[in-house]
Amino acid sequence: MYFYISLFSLIVNCTPKSAIRNPQSAIRNPMKSLKPTFFFLFITLFSFIAKADEGMWLPMLVSKYNINAMQQIGLKLTADQIYSVNQACLKDAIIALDHGGCTGSIISQKGLLITNHHCGYEAIAEQSSVGSDFLTDGFWAMRPEEELPIPGKTVSFLIRMEDVSARVLANVTPGMDEGERGAAIQKETDQIIEETETGSEFEVSVESMFEGNEYYMFVYQTYKDVRMVGAPPSSIGKFGGDTDNWMWPRHTGDFCLLRVYSDADGKPAVYDKSNLPLQPKYFLPVSLAGVKEGDFSMILGYPGATDRYLTSYGIQEKLMQSNPADIKAKRAKMDVMKRYMDADDATRIAYAGDYAYLGNFWKKSQQESKSLQRLKVYDDKKKIEDEFQEWVNGDESRKLTYSSVMDDFKTLYQSSAQSRANEAIVYAGELLMGARILYIAFQTGELVSRFDSADFNEMVSSNKVRAAKFYKTFNPALEKELLRNMLEVYATNVSPQYVPDCYAIIHKKFKNDVGRYADYIFEHSIFASEARLLEFLDNPRKKTITKDPAFVAANSFIASYMLARLSQMTDEDKFSKARRLYIAGLREMHPESTFYPDANSTMRLTYGTVKPYQPADALFAAYYTTLKGVMEKEDSTNAEFVVSPRLKDLYNKKDFGRYSDDGIMHVCFLTTHDITGGNSGSPVVNANGELTGLAFDGNSEAMSSDIKFDVNLQRTICVDIRYVLFVVDKFAGAGYLVDEMKLAK
Ligand code: ARG
Repeated sequence: MYFYISLFSLIVNCTPKSAIRNPQSAIRNPMKSLKPTFFFLFITLFSFIAKADEGMWLPMLVSKYNINAMQQIGLKLTADQIYSVNQACLKDAIIALDHGGCTGSIISQKGLLITNHHCGYEAIAEQSSVGSDFLTDGFWAMRPEEELPIPGKTVSFLIRMEDVSARVLANVTPGMDEGERGAAIQKETDQIIEETETGSEFEVSVESMFEGNEYYMFVYQTYKDVRMVGAPPSSIGKFGGDTDNWMWPRHTGDFCLLRVYSDADGKPAVYDKSNLPLQPKYFLPVSLAGVKEGDFSMILGYPGATDRYLTSYGIQEKLMQSNPADIKAKRAKMDVMKRYMDADDATRIAYAGDYAYLGNFWKKSQQESKSLQRLKVYDDKKKIEDEFQEWVNGDESRKLTYSSVMDDFKTLYQSSAQSRANEAIVYAGELLMGARILYIAFQTGELVSRFDSADFNEMVSSNKVRAAKFYKTFNPALEKELLRNMLEVYATNVSPQYVPDCYAIIHKKFKNDVGRYADYIFEHSIFASEARLLEFLDNPRKKTITKDPAFVAANSFIASYMLARLSQMTDEDKFSKARRLYIAGLREMHPESTFYPDANSTMRLTYGTVKPYQPADALFAAYYTTLKGVMEKEDSTNAEFVVSPRLKDLYNKKDFGRYSDDGIMHVCFLTTHDITGGNSGSPVVNANGELTGLAFDGNSEAMSSDIKFDVNLQRTICVDIRYVLFVVDKFAGAGYLVDEMKLAK
């Protein structure tokens, strides 16, 4: 889950879609059932000062906890220049894309925004067609009129944050059960949000930190007119493709440029031709100086979710159940998609975004399991738990509060493993999201209970709009085969109690042949094509939906999914209490340590240095790569490693302009930052706060990093900003964009 996260996993309300996409978080946080989780890691004061690399720190607290250590290793800025509510500062140039799917930063006085190519990937695909394929060929607006509006894209600025723990927890008493506690917290939280939002143009959220031990309020301003300015061809922006993904050495120019527009007053406005480029409070200067080993470096961004205090039981669960299920389900989908994508360009473009998403997390789950084992993370966690237990046993009052925590974890995970509900949730999720005919059937199903309501016609119209968009990227032959395969994978891998009713139909009517069942659905369902769905929406009848075979199948999977969720939910309160107490206990146990909360899509700062590493015994990895490596990796027979003739030409002529490092074109570099999914596109800045690169990945050897930071192995993979500028200026001929920036040597 490194540097980008799917939007789906961030949708906060409990739509089945988001619940399915992020089943884990649903288990962990009953209050906001779908926000990512809030575990954290503790480190001793000593290790934190000595190493400085681990930690996703709240920017507001940097002045208190981090600034001295940061200055000791080279930072030249003050805490106020990083985070302040009184003056323009770094945080004002950092944005969350789509409420936290990726991070970006503002790099000019005219609202120019830089993020990763893979963060703009879906938008680039959506703007593409077989005739003008921006994925393959890249896209460059040479003047403002050529910029492309991206419908639905949002850019959020953090206005301020505040510790509201005292107020949120004011009415919580020790005697409350988890339900009462949750209600008291919710009531106060809602009030805070309402008070702050009323009469303002801001969006407010209150987030739990340390598993409900603390609460922080975040105030955002969100812009909705965002346009595409430039994207390199995939042969640069996604060079190395899925083969190189999560790997070092890396040679990817993973960036794209957008622009934020506002109304004439600088306020957010929906797309309008007359909108103006945003004049930001602050934008990042861009460094031409490059980075050297040992340089101070930091990142501000929006990490999505970490699980740094997952217990040893949780690790077993991941290794035995959820990761294997995730890997199998995603692979089954990808195999079908790949075959159709290779055969047809329109299909390749239509499914590019989904395929990239699947491939990314399929590989991540595998590498995560490998790293967890190689780095013996289970043993580390067990040791911490044993120490915790010993500490608890050493004192009567501690026993009173914490004595059952470890045992509770044990029983809860045991019963969860026995129920195998986790697996069912993963498979049902992948099936419902993946076999898209079931998904559209489920979505349209909202009409069933609304036939007599006043807004019915309005709902029908919005269903028509949705259908038009949905079927643009729907290949029926692919979808039918996918449904068939997923039905098979589900039945062979999921515990019988979660196998839905529709398999009885498959058994009875189709002699257990899932292929015939899929054929039947595609022959008879109104959801099999846009024409049929539109025909239905012109003259909607309740019975037509309720009897539709795709709707029936979708519903029966949802029923199984709900059953599995229900089985988890019975234990949810106990789980959340155990987690909250565990963290509270650990903090009490280590009063000398500074703790940071788990990532939860709120702005964080991580700092460290530029540094090489040793990926394995006898292997040493340098901290930067160069354009020579692109040429060495070139393979014209493999779409992932094609090199464009223009890039080769520039390389051969050494035509690097002012962007080289003593005549050598650097491409990517490594830092010791602590980041995760959601940090994609984050600006990497030097001691002076100047942009040196963009974070875009992590290394496979440390893929257990969401659970444990490994100081020797974990690196952030960044694209060198000089390579970005070289591509914009020399490769694309869009030097006017570089002229917009403030360059520092
Ligand atoms: N692993 C990176 C992330 O999760 C990059 C993903 C995009 N690259 C790719 N080849 N699919 O953010």
